[in-house]
Amino acid sequence: MLKNSVIAMIVILEFSTWRLNMTKTKVLFVCLGNICRSPMAESMFKKMTSEKGIADYYQINSVATSSEELGNPPHPGAQAEMDRHQLNYNGHYSRPITAADISNADYIITMDESNLADLKQIIPNRDLSKLHLCMDIVPGQKGTSIVDPWYTHRFDKTYQMLNQSLPLWLKKMEKIRKEG
Ligand code: 4NP
Repeated sequence: MLKNSVIAMIVILEFSTWRLNMTKTKVLFVCLGNICRSPMAESMFKKMTSEKGIADYYQINSVATSSEELGNPPHPGAQAEMDRHQLNYNGHYSRPITAADISNADYIITMDESNLADLKQIIPNRDLSKLHLCMDIVPGQKGTSIVDPWYTHRFDKTYQMLNQSLPLWLKKMEKIRKEG
């Protein structure tokens, strides 16, 4: 009798977790190395959803289009910028995008035109509508790339551009989530 109740409770809990995961909005940020821009975007987006009390509705990750930095933590310049803004990047290590990442995501948000072009080569047609350029959502900034701070060392500029675009992405996602 007790054993059956325990099993029933486990089944209910598993089902609830599965349902919650199914209904989460899955956001994937992508850049070339996954050590500068996309981990910063991931961390900023996680902080924004936490502060709004809506973190449970989101699954947020970041990946690379290349394997150049596989297993590496965020770049020291990105770490310093994230530290300045109390952004958490613990446990982040670069990894390349997989087919499972693509099929799992609802939004695949790239940092620059080159990331976008690279992904267009590998994303199946059915998933192409998930693919976006981060700054496209900012009025007057359509087609603008977030310049790679790996080359420019302008990690502050990366933060600034993400700080302009990410709140607009979250606003759009929340509108869709609440309507759905
Ligand atoms: P990210 O920056 O794409 O913003 O992470 C880069 C990091 C590493 C390399 C290029 C860009 N790399 O060539 O190793």
